[in-house]
Amino acid sequence: MMGIMEARTLELVFPEHANPGGNAFGGFVLGLMDKVGSYAAIRRARKRCVTVRVGEVVFEVPIRVGDLLEIVARVVRVGRTSLTVEVEVYRENLKESKTLATRGNLTYVAVDEQGKPVEVGEPAAEKEPGL
Ligand SMILES: CC(C)(COP(=O)(O)OP(=O)(O)OC[C@H]1O[C@@H](n2cnc3c(N)ncnc32)[C@H](O)[C@@H]1OP(=O)(O)O)[C@@H](O)C(=O)NCCC(=O)NCCS
Repeated sequence: MMGIMEARTLELVFPEHANPGGNAFGGFVLGLMDKVGSYAAIRRARKRCVTVRVGEVVFEVPIRVGDLLEIVARVVRVGRTSLTVEVEVYRENLKESKTLATRGNLTYVAVDEQGKPVEVGEPAAEKEPGL
């Protein structure tokens, strides 16, 4: 079962996500990392969260049109109002099995309705759906 510290998404790379040579735009992959990272932060904090920092991200393995990406995000640090999330992007396609393509750390801040930082607080109790 996926815990409250994690989030995971699958995404296929379409031509509109890539340059004419078929390589995905770095910004597209970064956007996915930011989105899925925020899902993990929101799951843990149960509050609105905004991105305050994107740590270094290196694209070591090409991501191309037709690749299936699995984006895995895990909360690795909880501060007073901030959370750091490690995000990994795996690539697979018809020829190659799942390979880690890139990873990075993103930091989010829990905010109130006015956008002011608020305490993350204790985690909500986890229970199996339907129980
Ligand atoms: C995020 C934001 C609410 C923080 O406001 P702030 O007044 O700087 O808040 P604080 O100084 O009280 O810091 C709040 C937390 O953020 C952390 N933080 C602030 N700047 C940071 C940075 N550059 N890198 C990492 N963490 C940072 C602080 O360490 C603190 O964490 P803690 O409470 O766990 O110790 C504010 O900067 C903001 O609204 N930024 C824009 C966010 C946004 O719109 N993001 C989308 C991309 S455009």
